[in-house]
Amino acid sequence: MPLNQVRIHSFRCLSKVDLPVNSKRTYIFGPNGAGKTSLLEAIYLLGRGRSFRTRQSRRLIQHGQESFAVYGALDLGGVTHHLGVGRSAGGLELRLDGKPAPGISALARLLPVHVIEPSMHSLIEGGPKNRRQFLDWGVFHVKQDYLSVCRRYRRILGQRNMALKTHSGEASWNESLLEAGLEVDQARSHYVSQLANALVGLGEALLGRPLEIAYRKGWRKGQAFEEALEASSGKDSAIGATQVGPHRADLIISLGTRGVREEVSRGQQKLIAAGLVLAQIRVFASNRDDGGILLVDDPAAELDKSSLGALISVLDELPAQQVLTSLEESILPPASGCSVFHVEQGKVLSMVQ
Ligand SMILES: Nc1ncnc2c1ncn2[C@@H]1O[C@H](COP(=O)(O)OP(=O)(O)OP(=O)(O)O)[C@@H](O)[C@H]1O
Ligand SMILES: [Mg+2]
Repeated sequence: MPLNQVRIHSFRCLSKVDLPVNSKRTYIFGPNGAGKTSLLEAIYLLGRGRSFRTRQSRRLIQHGQESFAVYGALDLGGVTHHLGVGRSAGGLELRLDGKPAPGISALARLLPVHVIEPSMHSLIEGGPKNRRQFLDWGVFHVKQDYLSVCRRYRRILGQRNMALKTHSGEASWNESLLEAGLEVDQARSHYVSQLANALVGLGEALLGRPLEIAYRKGWRKGQAFEEALEASSGKDSAIGATQVGPHRADLIISLGTRGVREEVSRGQQKLIAAGLVLAQIRVFASNRDDGGILLVDDPAAELDKSSLGALISVLDELPAQQVLTSLEESILPPASGCSVFHVEQGKVLSMVQ
């Protein structure tokens, strides 16, 4: 790290943008509809291969254009890497150092991108799939072969489910499912214990109460996966799908003595989700020297002055490059030594350092 430069062409309202990124913190200010979130979305795309607002990359192409392109120059241990993500009629294209990249994982490894944005309360109140994705993305960055283990598990699970649907001997898949499933489970369990340690103090700092997490494996507590699979075989056959395993796992989040899905406000949900992202950055930083890049879209939205102040204080100590947006400087006064940009109608207008 860090990401030094971002170039954007025909991406939403951004026709052509050249943005030098500060190695510590960059502020983007501008009125509603100026293109602040779009800028963050473009950076996010470089390390994730997708937007945090839509699953359809064609929607990101500027109206009236045929394609968009986003480039990033990343300095890693004195070597500059060039990352590119574009979309044309042929679909999404990924490039790394002048060559086509076969998948997003190569770009993602170089540029771990985190985001805190107004709709991320879905991580708390949405279904377990959101939390599994959050978890898996974290494990992917700290465990080299995790992606291939996950893919193997999903492939075997698909084959077992097909056998269940067609009544063609699902038991023959059990051994390989157990083996891959336990590998996924162990990697996740280890990661969650790291994440739980990194969370210590964050709940108090952001919400005045301890924030804790635990991993629910996807089968009954105290049971071995093998026993759970055996016990579930009747149900699996009746439903035609495997009912236990890491694909049913969840992250259990609690604030003080309560589970967070039942009774916390929108603003609190945002702070809890932010706490999880910040803990993830701490884990990354301890495993790989840097925490990656954190994009914070409109932190003032839904937060009162003291909560916003608490969040910014934690960000000040965070081992990650940061890009923050807000409507006005008065809402989010820029810290010294950081870069400040103003965006209006899709154009980066001015810069003060
Ligand atoms: N594919 C597209 N082509 C052209 N313009 C688009 C496209 N998609 C979105 N826009 C426009 O881009 C503009 C900027 O949106 P963006 O969400 O980035 O603004 P913002 O600065 O984050 O505003 P807010 O403060 O309201 O969050 C919007 O006016 C939107 O209509
Ligand atoms: Mg916005």
